[in-house]
Amino acid sequence: MKKIITRITELMSAAFADCGYDASYGTVTVSNRPDLCQYQCNGAMAAAKQYRKAPIAIANEVVAALGEQEMFASCVAVAPGFINITLCEKYLADYVLAMGREEHFGVEPDKNPRKIVIDYGGANVAKPLHVGHMRPAVIGESVKRILRYVGHRVIGDAHLGDWGTPIGLIITELKVRQPDLVYFDPDYTGEYPKEPPFDVSALEEIYPYASKWSKEHEDYREESRKAILDLQQGRRGYMALWEHIMRVSMEDLKKNYDNLGTDFDIWGKESDAQKHIPAMIQGMKDNGYAHISDGALVVDVKEETDTKEVPPCMLLKSDGATLYNTTDLATIIERMQLFAPEQTDQIIYVVDKRQDLYFDQIFRCARKTKLVNPDTILTFIGNGTMNGQDGKPFKTREGGVMRLEVLINNVAEEVMRKMADRDIPEEEKREIARKVGLAALKYGDLSNQATKDYIFDMERFTSFEGNTGPYILYTMVRIKSILAKLGELPAAATTAGDRERGAEETNLLLTLARFAEMIEKAAAELAPHRVCQYLFELADNFNGFYHANKIVSEPDEGKRNEWITVLQIVLAILTDGITMLGMEAPDRM
Ligand code: ARG
Repeated sequence: MKKIITRITELMSAAFADCGYDASYGTVTVSNRPDLCQYQCNGAMAAAKQYRKAPIAIANEVVAALGEQEMFASCVAVAPGFINITLCEKYLADYVLAMGREEHFGVEPDKNPRKIVIDYGGANVAKPLHVGHMRPAVIGESVKRILRYVGHRVIGDAHLGDWGTPIGLIITELKVRQPDLVYFDPDYTGEYPKEPPFDVSALEEIYPYASKWSKEHEDYREESRKAILDLQQGRRGYMALWEHIMRVSMEDLKKNYDNLGTDFDIWGKESDAQKHIPAMIQGMKDNGYAHISDGALVVDVKEETDTKEVPPCMLLKSDGATLYNTTDLATIIERMQLFAPEQTDQIIYVVDKRQDLYFDQIFRCARKTKLVNPDTILTFIGNGTMNGQDGKPFKTREGGVMRLEVLINNVAEEVMRKMADRDIPEEEKREIARKVGLAALKYGDLSNQATKDYIFDMERFTSFEGNTGPYILYTMVRIKSILAKLGELPAAATTAGDRERGAEETNLLLTLARFAEMIEKAAAELAPHRVCQYLFELADNFNGFYHANKIVSEPDEGKRNEWITVLQIVLAILTDGITMLGMEAPDRM
């Protein structure tokens, strides 16, 4: 379905051309003076320079050339040369009713759909999912859904960290605590036990302990480096231990991501890329991309135009161990083939923005060594930090890292408190509070630009009023209850009445009509905050409309039916919108 703004631009461009001006001056934008008009064209000002004429003269000519248009209630030239446009209300309302009959409300699928892999998990095994991993998960999930909505094919990958330093530390610490475990006996050739020698809570205690200890003890550090190297070289006992660590911890991570409503298509792990590493390294050596520097194998990635220092990308440490970099590069090889036989067009990473320089190195190295095609798009979405009220990264009251499940529960508890006076059975109320709490948390996150830091504000995020997730859900619940009150709904209105509409109604229709524009922008910019902004505006406009009109008791049947159809469209768009944000709405709250 053609967007209204496109339709106006086409008319306007034709009118500029009819008057002998370049058609490109006919570009139309949403008005920045909604008190004066709904759309505007500023092309006459720019054309004035090229054609050496007064802008208002050009604007007048163009408006005259446009003549009467069914679309417009008014189209006027105003000093010094703006063209102000207000739509005919029946046209606008008909457009919205037609949107309601279209798939995705008229959002056209992208003309060049891409095959995209998005990496937005990044949790590390043996560590509980904590708040630091919430932002990539929430932002990535939403970006994935927005891209799918406009027709791209997207594979979401968890890419769990299962191969680096933490594993070496855990093995080392286990050896200290339980040296007699068969996994540490180098001569053992039998089968290893099926049962892990620890449970998830033991693991979660071991890792931070070992990590702290290693910082203070060089020999311990050395031993854990050796352990990871042994693991990478396939030492049997360590592989068996690692598999236990993986299984115990994956189960927990899956449960936690599931609670958050994050839905990965594949549960990739850093270790999955190991199989590509030897050939990749050999290739990079053979082609002269990699060279030895201080004993390590590196690829230079600095460029002449750099204003900051971009260090070489290291592939192998001097002891031959692979690094985080090596894994990420080898993972690219794997990802390029995920849509096989076709190749991947784009890889998106949603990771803490402090890894910005790191991804710069990786992308450059991947391009230089031709792991990707020249037109493969590599995108880094570096997320900012969720801070506490003190402006520092969010912590527990004791100053520790907060588990994500604790945070999720706390928010749900707060929502429970807000619903204390509601007459809803306890169990259902808990379920509602879980949905609303998650929405509060996600909306609080997504309504900020991904790259910006923000402050977690329990009171504000969980408020049922203002620019919050709960407010949007509340609006949906309100619409559902109006529709329920109406009982059996009339057939959808297909033509709008030719009548005067109040400002609230017109605003609501205008906002609805801009849905496709917004989605296209959000998809192009990978920007869920645009969806948030829009949903808030839509919910707000709906509430304005609702308070200004008596929908249920409206005696004019045509008007009432039209309103009911519009209501259903509002609800459906809000539903698609929150789904794109990874939120769910309860039936009441
Ligand atoms: N596990 C990493 C960390 O905790 C994040 C992984 C992000 N993705 C990637 N392909 N490097 O820092």
